[in-house]
Amino acid sequence: MTNIRPYSLTPAAAVAAAPEKTAVQPRRHPEGVPLDNRAAELAAGLQAEPARIDPKFLYDAQGCVLFNAICELEEYYPTRTERAIFEAHRAAIVRSLPASVQWVDLGCGDCAKSRDWLPHVDACRYVGVDIAADWVRREVAALGRHFPQMPCEAMEADFSGEFDLHGALVDLHEHPPVFFYPGSSIGNFSPGRAVAFMAAIGREAGARGCLLISADLRKDRQTMERAYADDLGVTAAFNRNVLRVCNRVLGTDFQPADFAHEAIFDAERGRIEMRLRARKRVRVRWGAMGRTFQPGDAIVTEHSYKYTPEQFDGMLAEAGFSVRSMWTDPRAWFGVFLAQR
Ligand SMILES: C[S@@+](CC[C@H](N)C(=O)[O-])C[C@H]1O[C@@H](n2cnc3c(N)ncnc32)[C@H](O)[C@@H]1O
Repeated sequence: MTNIRPYSLTPAAAVAAAPEKTAVQPRRHPEGVPLDNRAAELAAGLQAEPARIDPKFLYDAQGCVLFNAICELEEYYPTRTERAIFEAHRAAIVRSLPASVQWVDLGCGDCAKSRDWLPHVDACRYVGVDIAADWVRREVAALGRHFPQMPCEAMEADFSGEFDLHGALVDLHEHPPVFFYPGSSIGNFSPGRAVAFMAAIGREAGARGCLLISADLRKDRQTMERAYADDLGVTAAFNRNVLRVCNRVLGTDFQPADFAHEAIFDAERGRIEMRLRARKRVRVRWGAMGRTFQPGDAIVTEHSYKYTPEQFDGMLAEAGFSVRSMWTDPRAWFGVFLAQR
């Protein structure tokens, strides 16, 4: 991967003055208590125009397993492209990190990417944060067995609402946090929400903390659409599985086979739109409520924004990060950004 090149979008600028304290309001959830009223959120989405289901509902235990299978698909370039960038530039990225960090893995899933980073980073502790609480507790426990010297903690949080990571962090001055948000998950937020999310993370990071984040970059339509509609139908199964989540959480009577998987790139908005489109007339009921989908009616299940390097760099700047670098692959398909206030 000798062609892979780092390029700094901002020449070495001084780190900004000490940050203001976090403005993210806490919304704590005792162990085992649902993060929010998921059923009410699903019901509101199903009644919206167009109908929608937030992508966070894709990640039940089955969804997490299917997502891992997607990452292995020939069509799904993001995981292997990101891995190549990490491997080619890990040493340079690590050199830019402070010492004795707390490594905070946002949307950690199976923690596999952190497993590759931790042997190279001067980290005193690991915090895995994810909405898929049970799955993540198990995965973080497995990570702890792999790194027995390092305290490893799991935290449940829903990034689509208000969240507070402060309680999971220790002394920010002694142990600056590195917030690790790989996999281009940031693309699931609208650009405005992505900036707000990164600004909140920046405030949590303190003066010396960093955000190490990946964004998928714009490329030809066919490559992007194939990544979300593979020949084996794994992404289709991942998408349809959300209807089973709906049946379980809200009590709907969806038959997943009644809906076709679709992934289209909207060039104007710069995003892949993943939908489930009714194959026939479908009447879905939950409690006393219901909705009829006519043939061709769609439920939007995920947006995945694709950015140019300049666009994403501008979003990091807007979020309050004054020192920013980016590394990419030879085709400039994927970007890894390191940002500090
Ligand atoms: C695309 S996977 C990425 C997993 C892993 N970090 C990687 O890069 O391969 C997204 C992860 O974010 C979690 N997630 C999705 N929506 C979330 C939300 N609203 N709040 C917190 N975590 C969320 C999922 O459970 C899943 O583990």
